[in-house]
Amino acid sequence: MKLLEQTQFGKLTLKNKMAMAAMTRSRADINGIVADMTVEYYTQRAGAGLMFTEAIRISEEATGSPLTPGIYTNDQIEAWKKVTKSVHEHGGLIIAQLWHTGRAGHSIDRNGKLPLAPSPLAIQGMQHFTSQGLKDYETPQEITLAEIGQTIRDYGQAARNAIAAGFDGVELHAANGYLPSQFLAESANQRTDDYGGSIPKKARFVLEVMQELILAVGGDKVGIKISPFHPYGDMVLDDPKGTYTYLVQELNKLDFAYIELMKRSPYFPSPAHYPADDEIELFGSMIKQAVIANAGYDKASAEAELEKGIAGLISFGTLFLANPDLPIRFEKEAILNEPDRATMFGGGAHGYVDYPFLND
Ligand SMILES: Cc1cc2nc3c(=O)[nH]c(=O)nc-3n(C[C@H](O)[C@H](O)[C@H](O)COP(=O)(O)O)c2cc1C
Repeated sequence: MKLLEQTQFGKLTLKNKMAMAAMTRSRADINGIVADMTVEYYTQRAGAGLMFTEAIRISEEATGSPLTPGIYTNDQIEAWKKVTKSVHEHGGLIIAQLWHTGRAGHSIDRNGKLPLAPSPLAIQGMQHFTSQGLKDYETPQEITLAEIGQTIRDYGQAARNAIAAGFDGVELHAANGYLPSQFLAESANQRTDDYGGSIPKKARFVLEVMQELILAVGGDKVGIKISPFHPYGDMVLDDPKGTYTYLVQELNKLDFAYIELMKRSPYFPSPAHYPADDEIELFGSMIKQAVIANAGYDKASAEAELEKGIAGLISFGTLFLANPDLPIRFEKEAILNEPDRATMFGGGAHGYVDYPFLND
């Protein structure tokens, strides 16, 4: 089985081709510091060839949701050191996912301040999980050019902090309707300056952030996650295929490790004008860097994806959440634990570190 074979991934040697996808679990404290329980959570899953952390806020300004961790204060960095140390001691590798939520936040959890976004366009058709329950999205404040510059520098500093905390690399979270993807979508970006309008201008922010990350920590430690046809977060692009083709072609000119491609989900139908292409076949075959395929894979479909020869790794989200020993279960054709949706976001140890191992 290809999935369980060792592989070279840039400078990293991975013990299998199974990555754990980034998953927000909302169990940090109000200062964005991860708990000792989080050390246990990632350590339990160190059998993955590679792990991505939950999305980590690059700055206070990047905050969108309560109890999500940060990597911009000393205490936050010190707490992450415990995670990386333990994961490494258990033979695992772990990459920090860097996060700015843009308009996908709420002033309730931002000290009363409205979120910043490419344009003052609120997310339609969904509500936001806040510390005071579900709320309608607010109209965000348009981010200024000076704030864009500061945000790019914040990404660079967060990347340096991540490496100082012992992570094996950083991933730009440019998927799922957060700030980088907002710049790419007309439903969030109606700017008329150098960051909006044409496809190259809309792609500029993502490309500048990637250049900053590469400069900060070296391209071999940098990757990006994109979800071209996934409309989550009210992402509607006039020309999703053209926009992401341009983005991938420009990313090809940069020297970094990988692109994680998240396919659309059947639970979030794309707008009617979106193409039906399979994202891995369409974009994956254009990508110069390593490709990680994500979303909706089980053992059989992951194996079939690897056989196609486009993706080098498959990342699994919910399956790893519920099965800390997923590679062993795949190897032994064992039955899988079912994920519990009620404990995915927030709460304590239950639904976090108490999913049983095969021999429990
Ligand atoms: C509880 C939960 C939290 C998630 N949080 C993040 C996140 O912080 N960053 C991210 O890029 N994707 C996040 N995702 C999406 C997953 O990384 C992954 O793309 C998605 O679950 C599809 O993969 P799967 O079908 O294997 O679960 C989350 C998914 C779940 C279930």
